[in-house]
Amino acid sequence: MKILIIGGGNMGLTYAQAFLRSRIVTADNLMVLCRTYEKANHLSQHYDGRFFSDPAYCVKDADLCIFAVKPQDSGRLFAEIAPLVDPGQVFLSIMAGVRLSTISDTLGVQKVIRAMPNLPAQIGAGVTAFTSTDAVTRIELVTVQNLLNTTGKTLYVEQEDMIDAATAISGSGPAYVYFFMNAMIEAAKNMGFAASEAELLVSQTFTGAVDLYNNSDFSCQEWIAKVASKGGTTEAALRIFNDTELHQSVMAGAEAALRRARELGQ
Ligand SMILES: NC(=O)c1ccc[n+]([C@@H]2O[C@H](COP(=O)([O-])OP(=O)(O)OC[C@H]3O[C@@H](n4cnc5c(N)ncnc54)[C@H](OP(=O)(O)O)[C@@H]3O)[C@@H](O)[C@H]2O)c1
Repeated sequence: MKILIIGGGNMGLTYAQAFLRSRIVTADNLMVLCRTYEKANHLSQHYDGRFFSDPAYCVKDADLCIFAVKPQDSGRLFAEIAPLVDPGQVFLSIMAGVRLSTISDTLGVQKVIRAMPNLPAQIGAGVTAFTSTDAVTRIELVTVQNLLNTTGKTLYVEQEDMIDAATAISGSGPAYVYFFMNAMIEAAKNMGFAASEAELLVSQTFTGAVDLYNNSDFSCQEWIAKVASKGGTTEAALRIFNDTELHQSVMAGAEAALRRARELGQ
């Protein structure tokens, strides 16, 4: 299978490297289309694969085209490649907010998959929600899922609206986690720890807490109850979180992200 990744940025290169590392595709069969000759030339000196700057030399050859450009660049890209695409090709888009119907209608194609990965894909620890049009066959869907699995875990969703929901939860989610980590690091520094000590205490607390959660059947609420003994230190902290409605703030933040994802899709 020949794969073309359009956009040699963060996500495009993450995919290129993950696919090659997993040997799911050979360097000969992996193409990356960049916006400029300079970028394609630069990347070809540092990465395996074949790098292009002219769609005319690569789009027609691809069995699968992956759109990894910013949503605001999609209009110009679609205009460039529309005369080159073939209805037999499969298209996978990871662009936030760009709907399946927009891609199908603009390019005149039917086999379209839309996915929402997240940043830990860079280290194979991502999670990707994906959905597809009815024209994508079972085999094509499994092939694309295998590709997405090289960057972490995957979740197929029937309804396209759930891609926007995944954008608000797992797509933006790493930033929510870093926000909370940053506040804890600041608190640790205020208490007298050096920055490196504060970062170690906080990052290992997050890693350990998540690993413990993943290795048990307990819910978050049950784990909270285990840590917070009556009249203890954790309870004192949780009382402030409850009084300041932190739980509601997190939920409102995620809802705002969902509204924005839907707006971007208009
Ligand atoms: N980063 C994330 O965590 C994340 C998570 C989920 C989804 N996404 C989605 O992934 C997509 C890419 O994000 P990113 O973070 O990888 O962005 P990025 O680093 O800015 O990469 C986008 C790349 O696309 C290139 N490009 C733009 N127009 C092009 C064209 N017509 N032909 C070929 N290449 C073109 C850009 O080239 P120039 O730099 O030369 O303009 C740039 O290298 C976005 O749609 C985003 O919504 C990202």
